[in-house]
Amino acid sequence: MNTPETGLDIGSVEAAMAGAVIGQRIVYRLRTGSTMDDARALAHGGAAEGTVVVAEEQGAGRGRFDRRWVSPPGLNLYFTILLRPEPSQLPSMNMAAALAVHGMASEATGLAVAVKWPNDVRIGGRKLGGILVETEFDGGRLAHALVGIGINVNLDVSEHAEISEIAASLRSATGREFEREEILAVALRKFDELYSRIRAGESLAEEWAATLETLGKRVELRWGDRLLRGVAEGVNDAGNLILLQDDGERVSVVAGEVTSQV
Ligand code: BTN
Repeated sequence: MNTPETGLDIGSVEAAMAGAVIGQRIVYRLRTGSTMDDARALAHGGAAEGTVVVAEEQGAGRGRFDRRWVSPPGLNLYFTILLRPEPSQLPSMNMAAALAVHGMASEATGLAVAVKWPNDVRIGGRKLGGILVETEFDGGRLAHALVGIGINVNLDVSEHAEISEIAASLRSATGREFEREEILAVALRKFDELYSRIRAGESLAEEWAATLETLGKRVELRWGDRLLRGVAEGVNDAGNLILLQDDGERVSVVAGEVTSQV
């Protein structure tokens, strides 16, 4: 049975982020609809790059394809980072977030962690965390990018029927409880390092590819209203999946959902 712990000690996370671009300001909400919407409102108000919105609980947490993100209070991490990258750096936002969560989870658990293309961080074949990137353009100019991250930390996944068969938490994978402040600070630190490398013009594609469990597998993937089948051969610099289709045609897939990988 999950008993929510008390609220996050945000001061300790801010202290851990001293000197970084990300997390200089952390806006903490006990309950909100979605941290994506809060971060968007802050962006419109001119908030600084690197501002992070963290919520204890989301009433309308969302994932890709407008799916609900299970967001009960006191157990997990739900946060959104406000960024103002160059448009050419946009494709790297998802890679940086996935790598940050992947790195944090590998270190925290000592277990094998993998990324299912494009944005599911998994442990033991179950989803531990997800990434949602939303962008806004203003007259052709990139106004901001919002990187939303959800991480199941101390959640007892068996208590949530809609995800009990597909989700994992750090706790369910290891049998122990984690300090959410520490998990948040490590993930933000890792993201900060990766973001500064992106700003310096580096590509993260190679190290991201090394975390992708999807590569080398036969996949079925939904892309808009198309269903593609073939072998996932690799990714390009933008993180697009290179798929050798069964009909011999090679396509580069920008986004989509892998529905089967064997
Ligand atoms: C996905 O796997 O489809 C993405 C899930 C993203 C969930 C996070 S939780 C914090 C932020 N706020 C939201 O409403 N969604 C993202």
